[in-house]
Amino acid sequence: MSIRVRLLLSYTCILIVTILLFLAAALLFVVALTGDVRSVKDFYNIHYAVNPLTEQEETIFLDLKYLAKNEPESLLDPKLLEQYNFKLRAMQAELFIRKEDTQIYSSLSVKQPELLAYLPDYEMNNNAIRDTLQIGDHFYAYAKFDFYFSDGAKGSMFVIRERSPFAEVVRSLLPIILGVLFIVLLLMNALLYSLLTRSIVKPIRLLQKSAERIKEGNLAFELHAEGHDEIAQLSESFEGMRVKLKESVEKQLQYENNRKELIANITHDLKTPITAIKASIEGIRDGVPDTQQKMDRYVNTILTKADDMDQLIDELFLYSKLDLKQLPFAFEEISLGDFVGDYADDLYYDLQDHGIILTCEVEDEGSTTVLADRDKLKRVLVNIVDNGVKYMVNAPKRMELQVKRDRAFVTLAIRDNGPGISEDAVPYVFDRFFREDLSRSRQTGGSGLGLAIAKQIIEGHHGTIHAESKPGEGTSIIIRLPLAKPQEDGYEEHSDH
Ligand SMILES: Nc1ncnc2c1ncn2[C@@H]1O[C@H](COP(=O)(O)OP(=O)(O)OP(=O)(O)O)[C@@H](O)[C@H]1O
Ligand SMILES: [Mg+2]
Repeated sequence: MSIRVRLLLSYTCILIVTILLFLAAALLFVVALTGDVRSVKDFYNIHYAVNPLTEQEETIFLDLKYLAKNEPESLLDPKLLEQYNFKLRAMQAELFIRKEDTQIYSSLSVKQPELLAYLPDYEMNNNAIRDTLQIGDHFYAYAKFDFYFSDGAKGSMFVIRERSPFAEVVRSLLPIILGVLFIVLLLMNALLYSLLTRSIVKPIRLLQKSAERIKEGNLAFELHAEGHDEIAQLSESFEGMRVKLKESVEKQLQYENNRKELIANITHDLKTPITAIKASIEGIRDGVPDTQQKMDRYVNTILTKADDMDQLIDELFLYSKLDLKQLPFAFEEISLGDFVGDYADDLYYDLQDHGIILTCEVEDEGSTTVLADRDKLKRVLVNIVDNGVKYMVNAPKRMELQVKRDRAFVTLAIRDNGPGISEDAVPYVFDRFFREDLSRSRQTGGSGLGLAIAKQIIEGHHGTIHAESKPGEGTSIIIRLPLAKPQEDGYEEHSDH
């Protein structure tokens, strides 16, 4: 059974129960007003149908009617009348006898002096014998019988019962109230149903449609949750799931693309030197180098290309091992300041040969202890410095190593004043095989793995690496490594100086 049908059913049930309860309340109300359960039955009969009296009253009325028909004179007998009236009064009804225009008998309890004037005229056919009449604020229900006395005078016998004016109003208003209530309930029902349908069924339908879309493999949509109820929360969770699923599918696709790209790159990077080697060997086989000098050039080409390949294969091997997390790190506590300082000392003259002036600035020496694998960290530095050497072409060439520490990290910056990296390329320099300018890269012979390897190694140290660069101004590669003892004593003092 759908929620819509369930809601409809439950609302209909509520409607029925409410009406029943209302009817019960109305019944109780009438009983409370009239004090008589039986009168409830007559509540409407009295007015609209034929019977203004209760069954017992009716029996007395019929007795009196019989007397009026057969022994009209007996209705002049005060004693007899008193007897009948007594019986009637037990049921809150009264007896009234009229002869022509005079009142023959009236119960004392009818405190209505104008009663005679208001009573209906004679109507000897006795067609309309039951009705109600209103005198001022008072309402009376009556049954009447018109007859002739033996002297030919017209007589009327009334069994009268006073009704509460309030009950009378209620009685006349009750059908309207009931009708209005029913309509209000119906409208309420319709309104609540439509509201609930809108707030429950509609979002559920939307969820269902979204689930269908996901089933069909379509993740490119957005599910907006309205409100804060449980269904909205469910929709939010569903939306979260969709986003996660989309991310994971995209990641999967990205991996797949990366894999394809990787194979294509490796193929290309291996193919290029092999083609050169093949061409050189073919040239030698065909006797192209006819002089020793040419022969040397051919052989050198073969050797360089073979070296390139060897280097590429080494880099690839290292990268894939790092990528697969198969290369163990031999961590030890080292002072990054000392480590970089020593490296700079070693490097200084090498770089001088390349026309590069190296400066090294180590702040807070001795307190920059990090957990690091010396060899791998060295590899990172070599890869970054190599880039500087490779890409700097115009003098004056300068390179700077800088070590700084803060509360929890040591920052190592390697800066050069080379050509820089374009803004678009900066985020990708750490991607494997990324080379900003392929033509330049061919000249410099890079494979695009240097920074990717550096990133793998730094991440293996739980650190971060990023590049900052302005084309034409230079490049900074910034490495942040967590301090081995972040809360080292004396840090505050050192940093104050
Ligand atoms: N100091 C730098 N100055 C200018 N461009 C740089 C610098 N460092 C890196 N790049 C750019 O980032 C790219 C990626 O560098 P990466 O070291 O990963 O590869 P590569 O140097 O091309 O090759 P490999 O290092 O594997 O021999 C380079 O091709 C170059 O375009
Ligand atoms: Mg490089």
